Amino acid sequence: MQSNLHKKIHAALIMDGNGRWATWQGLPRSEGHEAGVRAIRPVVEAAADRGIGTLTLYAFSSDNWRRPQAEIDVLMGLLRTYLDAETKSFVETGVRLGVIGRRDRLPDGLAEQIAEAERMTAAGERIHLRIAFDYSARDRILAAARQTWPHTPRDEFGRMITGDGAADVDLLIRTGGERRLSDFLLFESAYAELVFIDRMWPDFRPDHLDEALAEFARRQRRFGGLTDADGAAKVA
Ligand code: IPE
Ligand code: IPE
Ligand code: MG
Repeated sequence: MQSNLHKKIHAALIMDGNGRWATWQGLPRSEGHEAGVRAIRPVVEAAADRGIGTLTLYAFSSDNWRRPQAEIDVLMGLLRTYLDAETKSFVETGVRLGVIGRRDRLPDGLAEQIAEAERMTAAGERIHLRIAFDYSARDRILAAARQTWPHTPRDEFGRMITGDGAADVDLLIRTGGERRLSDFLLFESAYAELVFIDRMWPDFRPDHLDEALAEFARRQRRFGGLTDADGAAKVA
């Protein structure tokens, strides 16, 4: 049987648990978010090394605007410093960066900074790193539906939703202990394998990515059909 890892996959990650990680240590939530950002780099590197073609990270959901303004400000600031700190090394290491989500509600200058980072890294071929920021899957689906006509083929509709032609999600990992999607990549995850890692995001390391990939390799994906083994069995 061919492993699920014979082709480059799209992995998506719900990086949850920053706040609890901090609170449990008597630290302010902002320190959890800072530690969460520090956890990203080794995971992106490991993902590229393990042959993950596309990695989508959930960094700020459209519902996260419901949080206190002080926490929102921290998260906006962290995206700025992340882009400042990483863009050059993305160019050097072949990472193509894309940010998915709304840009019209971001603080002054951030949308321009994102566009610049995307432009600078556009030639990267080692891995496509997508950051979901002010992202809502339901809004994406609704926006695509509003642009469509009654006979738009499903693939074309899917491309309107993803915006950048990214493939369907193969593996969706959530840290932090919750078992829900929280409005992340709902259309693209129709056949995603779901893996839950019961650690808070700041404690996530490349080893845990390997754990998730090993679990993914063991899963039997059928896409509604039959596996080779099923196919060889008698139908009637
Ligand atoms: C994930 O961590 C980061 C964002 C949602 C921005 P949380 O901030 O949700 O952390 P918990 O779930 O409260 O621990
Ligand atoms: C999902 O986490 C969003 C991100 C990780 C960016 P939340 O913490 O916002 O999700 P809920 O509220 O627990 O569903
Ligand atoms: Mg959370």
